Amino acid sequence: MEFKAELNNRVDYIEKIISEFLPIEEGKQKLIFEAMNYSVLAGGKRLRPMIMMEVAKLFNNFGQEVKPFMVALEMIHTYSLVHDDLPEMDDDDYRRGRLTTHKKFGHAMGVLAGDALLNYAYEICAEAIIYSQDMHAAARAFEILAKRAGAYGMVGGQTVDVLSCDNELDRDTLDFIYKKKTSALLEAAMSIGAVLAGANEEQLVLVEKMGNKVGLAFQIQDDILDVIGNSEVIGKPVLSDEKNKKTTYVSLYGVEKSKEISKALMEEAIGILDFLGENEFLKQLFISLIDREK
Ligand code: IPE
Ligand code: IPE
Ligand code: MG
Ligand code: MG
Ligand code: MG
Repeated sequence: MEFKAELNNRVDYIEKIISEFLPIEEGKQKLIFEAMNYSVLAGGKRLRPMIMMEVAKLFNNFGQEVKPFMVALEMIHTYSLVHDDLPEMDDDDYRRGRLTTHKKFGHAMGVLAGDALLNYAYEICAEAIIYSQDMHAAARAFEILAKRAGAYGMVGGQTVDVLSCDNELDRDTLDFIYKKKTSALLEAAMSIGAVLAGANEEQLVLVEKMGNKVGLAFQIQDDILDVIGNSEVIGKPVLSDEKNKKTTYVSLYGVEKSKEISKALMEEAIGILDFLGENEFLKQLFISLIDREK
């Protein structure tokens, strides 16, 4: 089957799983459920759950156990976007082709929807651990998720990102930010898929390395799209980084050189993937990420 069709099939499959876990919009606090579902259902690329599933397949073991973690990770990723768009952070009005959550529901609901999504992810994980056939593996998956999402991971990267606006950064600091704000959740996707599929310790080290490189390459392409992308296609505003005076790979090296760097990083990631085993779809997915238009 053609890559594009395979990709669409997977997005549909993942969205079905996500919808099974979403809260019902009822009760006195109905508005928070509406805001949560609004942001999650807006339709992102579903890259992180997809990669988690494909890495589990790479180790020949994609089963029921992975599904709650796929959903939890997408919820954490979505919360990170909801908060990233707040006026105190990147101050953006569009996301995933719709008004951002705080623009639609107001600032307080934007903050609370992010909080609620993060917590809901942990509620799903806790339940998954209780009902797991392999509690140790599930608990380990949960630990990876929590650590990659927190102040040593994504939140740490976002912290340095917002503190660094207005200052020109060196490559080292920029790499720190990208490895945390973006690679951390992609690493989590891959490591959790691998842990739940029973990969061994040596494989896990390589999987994490692969996630790191994919994350960097992915964020560089995000920076490129912020400059040369089409806002209708990317579903979010262009020139957000310039507006916020952010240093990016594009501001440091220009579009062409940035493309070369992301391509080289992705080739390294694919080298690791080939070493680990065979998953042709995952390979195609990696390749697609550095040329993507959204
Ligand atoms: C956007 O992530 C934030 C970054 C880490 C660059 P995605 O580009 O995966 O966003 P969605 O999930 O498709 O909306
Ligand atoms: C944000 O990076 C990464 C997150 C952890 C949300 P960006 O600020 O560049 O992401 P976009 O461009 O708004 O999606
Ligand atoms: Mg940001
Ligand atoms: Mg942003
Ligand atoms: Mg961006």
